[in-house]
Amino acid sequence: MASSVMSTSRSAGGPQAPAAVSAVGLRKSYGDKTVLDGIDLRIPAGSVFALLGPNGAGKTTAVKILSTLITADGGQAQVAGHDVATSPDGVRAAIGVTGQFSAVDGLITGEENMLLMADLHHLPKREARRVTAELLDRFDLTEAAKKPASTYSGGMKRRLDIAMTLVGTPRIIFLDEPTTGLDPRSRHNMWGIIRELVSDGVTVFLTTQYLEEADELADRIAVLNDGKIAAEGSAEELKRMIPGGQVRLRFSDPAAYQSAASALREASRDDESLALQLPSDGSQRELRSLLDWLDSAGIEADELTVHTPDLDDVFFALTGGADIPNQPNQPNQPKETAR
Ligand SMILES: Nc1ncnc2c1ncn2[C@@H]1O[C@H](COP(=O)(O)OP(=O)(O)OP(=O)(O)O)[C@@H](O)[C@H]1O
Ligand SMILES: [Mg+2]
Repeated sequence: MASSVMSTSRSAGGPQAPAAVSAVGLRKSYGDKTVLDGIDLRIPAGSVFALLGPNGAGKTTAVKILSTLITADGGQAQVAGHDVATSPDGVRAAIGVTGQFSAVDGLITGEENMLLMADLHHLPKREARRVTAELLDRFDLTEAAKKPASTYSGGMKRRLDIAMTLVGTPRIIFLDEPTTGLDPRSRHNMWGIIRELVSDGVTVFLTTQYLEEADELADRIAVLNDGKIAAEGSAEELKRMIPGGQVRLRFSDPAAYQSAASALREASRDDESLALQLPSDGSQRELRSLLDWLDSAGIEADELTVHTPDLDDVFFALTGGADIPNQPNQPNQPKETAR
């Protein structure tokens, strides 16, 4: 179900904000396999961008190119104002990367992992200790700080991973599947951490398999499929791109059901549960006209529920080879038949 609750992060980083990350025509192949086939991106500073796509779509490849871990075969990309090809050091100084697979060294303690990172960032000893203590506290790892990281749970390791990424106070962070394998509570905690970063003005580029996660966190979402961005927009815009919204009316009075059913010819009927389903974009305007019509006809429905397509529907439609003729921002064109 679509959520109408707006997270505070959605107001951040409007389209006029300077781009923290931008790319034009990024290409990458391995052998004769084209992984990225011309990717364009523009991520405003201070916003959250989510890259979605099935396994093997090229999400990690995109993160690696933008974080200068590998080079693209074609196209251009700027991160924090630096070109990834000609000024990789400039890019590296501005970013933090939490890879899909943990960078935590299990043989040493959480604290030692942090201090090692601080060392890589050339922080003076005293500053390194201060930043380490502060981040371990913020990520609720103080108690475990002196234990070998191999004894940490998956969620603790993931938190330590992100804490290590933040040692250099990056303004842009790349999180490649930050919550894969986390339980629901740890996932929600991670979302809280990401929201906190955003409220501090950090730009977040995240990849995820979880559509709900993109829906919760991201200002903009891009769906990667077959080497191309199949669609890009806010969660709401993406949902509007695919048909399938509907309103369901349920009646307890069979007579009311019958009169509604014979008047609303486009509705699909469920005679057993006395329910009608109508294609609808779920907009206030459409709902009002339906309610007005019911009122004027003297028909009372017991229950009215609205279903708009969720991001799962969008994901399946976009990555399953289905035709998506609509562009974002266009009104929904619901099918005549209910699903
Ligand atoms: N070093 C490499 N050599 C050869 N092929 C590679 C290499 N790295 C990635 N690939 C291929 O590129 C494609 C994209 O991989 P990538 O890791 O970017 O996908 P992903 O979207 O991150 O997938 P997942 O959701 O599984 O993490 C895959 O087909 C993968 O096998
Ligand atoms: Mg990956």
